[in-house]
Parts: sequence; C-alpha cells; structure tokens
Amino acid sequence: AEDGYELWLRHARMDPEAAAFPTGFMLDCETNSPTLNIISDELQSAFMAMTGSELVRHDKLEDGTLILSSTQCSGSLQSDLEAVESDEGYIIRSENGEEIGHTLIGAKTDIGLLYGVFDYLRQVASEADLTKLDITQAPAIDLRVLNHWDDLNGHVERGFSGESIWDWFRMPDYMSPRYTDYARANASVGINGTVLTNVNADATVLTPRYLEKVAALADVFRPYGIKVYLTARFSAPMELDGLETADPRNSDVQEWWKTKADEIYEYIPDFGGFLVKANSEGQPGPQDYDRDHAEGANMLADAVAPNGGVVMWRAFVYSAEEPDDRVKQAYDEFVPLDGKFRDNVLVQSKNGPLDFQPREPIHPLFGGMEKTPVMLELQLTKEYLGFSTHLAYLGPMWEEVLDTDTHVKKEDASVADIVDGKTFNHKLSGIAGVANIGRDRNWAGSIFDQANWYAFGRLAWNPKLSSSSIAEEWIDQTFDLSNAGEETVLSMMMGSREAVVDYMTPLGLTHLMGTGHHYGPGPWVDDLGRADWNPYYYHRATADEIGFDRTKTGSNALAQYAKPLRKKWSNLETVPDNLLLWFHRVGWDYEMKSGLTLWQEMVRHYDRGVDAVAKMQSDWLNLEGEIDAERYQQISDFLGIQHKEAKWWRDASLAYWMSINGLELPEGSAQPE
Ligand code: GCU
Repeated sequence: AEDGYELWLRHARMDPEAAAFPTGFMLDCETNSPTLNIISDELQSAFMAMTGSELVRHDKLEDGTLILSSTQCSGSLQSDLEAVESDEGYIIRSENGEEIGHTLIGAKTDIGLLYGVFDYLRQVASEADLTKLDITQAPAIDLRVLNHWDDLNGHVERGFSGESIWDWFRMPDYMSPRYTDYARANASVGINGTVLTNVNADATVLTPRYLEKVAALADVFRPYGIKVYLTARFSAPMELDGLETADPRNSDVQEWWKTKADEIYEYIPDFGGFLVKANSEGQPGPQDYDRDHAEGANMLADAVAPNGGVVMWRAFVYSAEEPDDRVKQAYDEFVPLDGKFRDNVLVQSKNGPLDFQPREPIHPLFGGMEKTPVMLELQLTKEYLGFSTHLAYLGPMWEEVLDTDTHVKKEDASVADIVDGKTFNHKLSGIAGVANIGRDRNWAGSIFDQANWYAFGRLAWNPKLSSSSIAEEWIDQTFDLSNAGEETVLSMMMGSREAVVDYMTPLGLTHLMGTGHHYGPGPWVDDLGRADWNPYYYHRATADEIGFDRTKTGSNALAQYAKPLRKKWSNLETVPDNLLLWFHRVGWDYEMKSGLTLWQEMVRHYDRGVDAVAKMQSDWLNLEGEIDAERYQQISDFLGIQHKEAKWWRDASLAYWMSINGLELPEGSAQPE
C-alpha cells in the first residue's frame, strides 16, 4: 500500500525510453566497506524498481557503464577525483568518448560516494539528461543534524507523528529495521548527525545501560555517514553520581565530565558530542552558580575535545525576570561572551528571537557574534504551524531566513553566509532541525511534512538552494504526476506557509496560539503567572492600538541589529507590512501602504488565509486519479481539517479583536460561520 513509508525514495517505475539508463555499474575499488555494500544495494534496488530489470555489475568498462570510485576504496581514477574538495563531496560526470560513453561518480570517501549515488538517483527521477551530467558538489555546512526532542519513555515533545522511533526498551538486542531506513533517508539528503534525546531530558541516557543502546544505534548509522550526539543535562554529575554541585569551576565536576566523556567514547568511538539547553525554561545551567554560558560550555567542550567532539550550546534562553522584552535576552547574554568559547563550541540559535513562530525577523545573534560559530536551529515539527494536519511547506520560510542580509558586512553577510562560516571565516559550521519524525507509517505525520524533512536536508547541504527547486525535486520523487499535476502541487506548497501566517498571525502578530499545546487560536488568555506566557504580552491590543513597540520609544530590541536593518525596520515607511506589529505599535485606523486601515488590512489577511486553504482543497480535487487512493485521501481529509481550522482561527481572532477595538467587520469581508 502507498502509506508514505518509502518517503521520497519510492523509485517509481519510469518509461524505459525516458532516459539513457546505464547498462550496468562497476565499482572501481580495491577495498570493500559496509558503505560500498549499501551503495551497490541501493543502486540495484533503485534500478530494479525504476526499470524492472537488473542493473548488472560490470567488471570492466563497457558502453554505458556507471563507474563508482573513491580515494578511500583505492579506486584507480585518482586524478579524476582531484576536483572533489571535501571529504563529503563528489563529482558526477558523463564522459562521452568516441567509442563508449560512461558516467563517473567519484569521491574522496565512500560516504561522499554514497551522497553522489543518491544525487545521481535524483537526477534519474527528475528525468535529467543522463548523458550530460557534470556535477561537482560539496556541503556548505559541516554539521547537518536532526534534533530529536524524544524522551526515553517514548514521548516526543512537540511530536505530531506518533511515539519516538527509538525503541529504548528493546534496544540493543532488537534493532528495528526502521533505524536503517531512517539512516538511509537522512543520508539521501545529506544529513550527517542526529541528537537522539530531548533538550529537556534528564541525565539517564548518559548511564552505561543506555550508552550500550546508543552505541548500537551508532553502529547502524555509521555506514550512512551519520554520527550520534546526546543532550547533556547540566546537573548530571549531581543526579547520576551524587556530586554536591554542578559548578563548572569545581574540579570534581570537571573531572566527572571528562570521565563521562571518555566512557562514552569507549562505547561510541566517533561520538559527535553534546547538545545543551541550560538556564532556559527552568533547566539547570552555569548561571545557577553565577558562572556564564561560556564557562559551562567550555567545561563540556574540554571533556569531548580529546576525542574530536563538539558542544552545541543553545541560545534559546529567556527567564521570567527579563523585565521589558523577552526577545532581547539571548543577544544580551551571549554577545558579551563572544571570543570566550572554545574552538569546538557552537552557539545554537533558533531562526528568530522568539520561538519558531510562523513568521519572525531573524535572530540578531546571526551577525551579532563574530568569533563564535553560530549554528542555526530550525523546527521541522510544526509546533506553531498547525502540527501535522495543516499543510505548510517550510522551505519558503527557511529560505526567507537564510537569504536575509544581516548587513554586518558589506557583502557575504546573509544568514546563510553567517551559518556556513563564510562571513567571519569560521572553521566549524552547523545547522540543526528539530525532527518531525515519529513511529507513524509515514514517519512525519503527513505526506507533506515529509517535504520539510527533505528540504531541511537539502538546505543544510546547500543553504542557497531555492525552496521551489527543492519542492520540485521532492514532488518528482514522491508522486508520479503529469506536468500540470506537478505545477498544481508546487503552487500549493509554495503558497502554504504564507496562508498559515495569514490565518494565524498576520502583519507581524505573534504567539497567539492556545497556551501550552500551541494548537488553535488563543489570543485572549490573560492569566498564566508569567507575563511572557500571556498572549497579551505579544499583541498588547487596546481599544486604540495594537503591536509591540521595539523601537527607541519602546523596548529598543531593534538596537540589536546592524544599522541598515535597524533603520529599515524602525521606520514605518520602510518596515515591511509582514513585520509591522512585531516592531511597531500603531492605531487600528493606521493607514497602510495599500491605503486601507490596519483593521481593514488585517481582516483582509485573515480572509486571504482562509481562501488560500480553500484553493488548496479545490486544487487537490483535480489530482484525483493521478495519485494512489491512500495518500490522496489522507491529504484530502487533512486539507478539510485545515480549512475548518483556518476559519476557526479567523473567526476566533477577529471576534477577539472586535471585542477590544469595538469595530465592525469591513464591508465585503467574509462573515463568521
Ligand atoms: C519551545 C517548546 C518547548 C521546547 C522549547 C525549547 O518553547 O514549546 O517544548 O522545550 O521551545 O526549544 O527548548
């Protein structure tokens, strides 16, 4: 059945005339490795599925041979491989000699070769001319990691696709084949690391009983080029071994972490390192002892450094005490520490300064720290964008973030340049995606959520790819559609995120989701104990005005951005409509660029969001018969849910705003149901 388990690796049957398929393949290798075995199996099963016949193994060059070679496997084609820059890079080159034509996939390492093979299969699926390939690739970012917010009891924090795929109870004696399929899917898009545990986890995973299970997973992932990482709870020395303190200046504590790290490396020789959430949302951290983030991070960094590990120290910090504006806290705490972190520390920041909202400006830490590699954290699981039932392709959102110019330098200072290390010449670079993966048959909770996993991997490899080209690739591999059908799905995907912004939080509004669960509208809740957990904190609507003044007359959060951005966003003339209420507080009758009042414009956005979902629904109907019934039906049903809930969002939000501003719905706008 087509239940989505195959993800984008379905390898649908192709027209035998569609392409110049290879006549066979040849491994130009002296040595063997588990990765090379995976490569052969992958090629053979893909071609069997696509063409119905076996891709035979040639032992010498014949016309149409696909040759695979790597330096690591002592291939004979070394000079051809010189063009490959990085250990993970590859070339794919069609050689059309006088007598025989063939295609070479070459890399320095077997893992690079595996990436090249997956790329080649993508070229096949997108019906590229296989006699004219000339591809040279290397990943722009070193650490391309998923962050699983998975607890050891199977619960996934903010997970909307079933329980955790890690079956801790049965590991290590039973290793589900799903782990292999997971590794394969990740490798196919270039993901090379995975943090197995929740940022809020306790320290249990660092005990021998669990390290044995982690090691078994690492063994499964290794031939796919994937390293494992773990979250490290800062108070682990106290919880696991009864130390009296977790103070990073205490030598027993330092010693404890060194010993723990060495122990981990005995189980997992290529362990990636630690991800840490400290002094955020109640988690323990160095500030409990009046030490700063750098001292905390450096202690852990020293513990893993001898074995080549890294520490990814999260900048998602905010506390009840921050008096005027929560979004300023991370910058205020971290920028003064720039230059104090060890070489193997990355500071990991969410894309925006608040919390994975449908739209935020970029986080000012991108460009704010010159000497520290700032790692970008994106969220694949759609905590604030309708979970897995609402269709929202996140590629355009991430592209918007990556393309934003921080202006900290004249050129090469987009968020992508900062993150890949170009702007400030960093040796280490990283990007993290909070995984949307669970035990659902379709992995991600819905078919379209698979596209977010796919897009994350592709952008992590090359943050300058366009989200529409990624969507096209994904569509090619996920469905078998007519050209018109492909266009339809592409336009649905490309418009989907903006539709969510429109019906949830238009014009720079933010964090109006139901408290706690974050699903559905909840702009009205007003007593949660903490000011910054109250939606009013973000919209500040009164009878006359709405919005958060972050200019000089308000919290001045804008001071955290480089001057050109600060000027653009401070000025009502130049701030884009889509960030207006994030940075400014204006009257309900404020005149927008369109000539409408703010209120009229706002209502128009809510209506537009609902209409966009209705359009997706009707577009989808045209695809009946082009898509297998099972996937067609689920998507259709989910769009039904989304449409109902987009109206709920609009109606509930407008009713609330009207209870505050006393205004009527503008003429011509949709009436609530
Ligand atoms: C959000 C999310 C939490 C998560 C936190 C984090 O606040 O709702 O579940 O733990 O982000 O990123 O640490």
